Amino acid sequence: MEAKRFYIRTFGCQMNEYDSRLLTDLLISSGWTPTSRAEEAVLVVFNTCSVRHKAETRVYGHLSGVASLKRLNPEVRVAVVGCMAQRLGEGLLDRFPLIDLVLGTEEIFSLPEILESEDLRERVKLKLSGRDFGELATKLAPFSAEALASFVAITRGCDNFCSYCIVPYLRGPLRCRPHPQILKEVEALVTRGAKQITLIGQNVDSYFDGEIDFPDLLERVCSLPGLQRVRFTTSHPKDFGEKLLEKMANLPQLCEHLHLPLQSGSNQILGRMNRNYTVEEYVQKVEGARERIPGLCITTDLIVGFPGERETDFERTLEAVRKVGFDASFTFRYSPREGTAAASFDDDVPEAVKIGRLNRLIAFQRGISEKRNRELAGTVQEILVEGHSRRQQDRWKGKSRGGKTVLFSADRESLLGKLCRVRITSCTSKTLFGEGVS
Ligand code: SAH
Ligand code: SF4
Ligand code: F3S
Repeated sequence: MEAKRFYIRTFGCQMNEYDSRLLTDLLISSGWTPTSRAEEAVLVVFNTCSVRHKAETRVYGHLSGVASLKRLNPEVRVAVVGCMAQRLGEGLLDRFPLIDLVLGTEEIFSLPEILESEDLRERVKLKLSGRDFGELATKLAPFSAEALASFVAITRGCDNFCSYCIVPYLRGPLRCRPHPQILKEVEALVTRGAKQITLIGQNVDSYFDGEIDFPDLLERVCSLPGLQRVRFTTSHPKDFGEKLLEKMANLPQLCEHLHLPLQSGSNQILGRMNRNYTVEEYVQKVEGARERIPGLCITTDLIVGFPGERETDFERTLEAVRKVGFDASFTFRYSPREGTAAASFDDDVPEAVKIGRLNRLIAFQRGISEKRNRELAGTVQEILVEGHSRRQQDRWKGKSRGGKTVLFSADRESLLGKLCRVRITSCTSKTLFGEGVS
């Protein structure tokens, strides 16, 4: 019998990448074979994102493309899963009748079962609570191909309700996985070759499983043998605290990188975003963190054009970026999301102004990133090697402990998966260049 092939395309954040890995493992254990070519597949899965309008239009583009696959082979099944499925439900079927299944952020894992039963009458499943797939995840890990770096979700959902954000509506309330389950999953991944684990959650600092909190969880993860690097994302400035800093300073596996979304440099805007901290508190926390952890890299998320953002508010964002000196920032144009608190605010910043501010912010950040990178010239950095540079095959590529991409030359044959010491010689705003030192 010919192998049943499936193709998964993942949009959105690390949580979606994680869910796609679990779904891949589940499908493989149910007899399916993965393919990276949609044309070969009899099952096409889109794991989708709704965080901004643009994230959804990208998926629409891909869905139109799948129509031709289905014309060639009517046996092909198309499943749209994840956040956009959760948000639009039936509406997706109305717009794209070619879709066979719409499964929300928690129902996604019932896909193999539904396909097995061949009962496609109930085509939309959106329940946010019910079955717990966390335990299953601990048993699945050995199926996938070896991966050097893996994500492990420690929570699902979010209770923060930042006023612009759709995530709590699509992923449900905060649920924390019991820590023994997380440790088991990390161990399984290390056994299959993982050198680095990134613990993920919408707000990892809010982790508490009834027994231990996030800093304690980090300590337990770091004590597992064979693990070389541990990272985590995302922290929330209102919750990020002293105990976590202490662990970062003392646990050698824990990398010197902190992703701490600021969102805006204006207190008035932060208040309307329901972020529950001021810029002053934010700056104080990162300054404290820099003092405690030498070489700490700090990255952030920033939104421009939030309702009511005046030029002076935007300038405060630039000022905060200058003051903190972020190593990098992910910058977004505000996109109203139906059902969120901010969607009822007047979206009063004209699109052209949003674009103008975004471009200014990007250019400003680029200068600061370059300056931060230049400061590393002459230093020796520890790099986890992920492969070759795409453009220059004789150069190795990897990440520093701070999370920066580093390209370097070295004599040794295979460095894949190795930790290497690299002397930094030059840089751009995005990349460091160097030479291996033995
Ligand atoms: N839980 C994480 C990730 C949230 S989504 C966190 O709290 O950081 C990632 C980023 O998308 C957010 O930090 C925010 O900067 C951005 N974002 C979320 N909703 C948005 C919206 N409606 N418009 C523009 N950017 C948005
Ligand atoms: Fe959204 Fe805020 Fe939760 Fe992050 S912390 S997922 S931005 S509501
Ligand atoms: Fe997008 Fe859902 Fe992640 S909306 S950012 S994929 S949680």
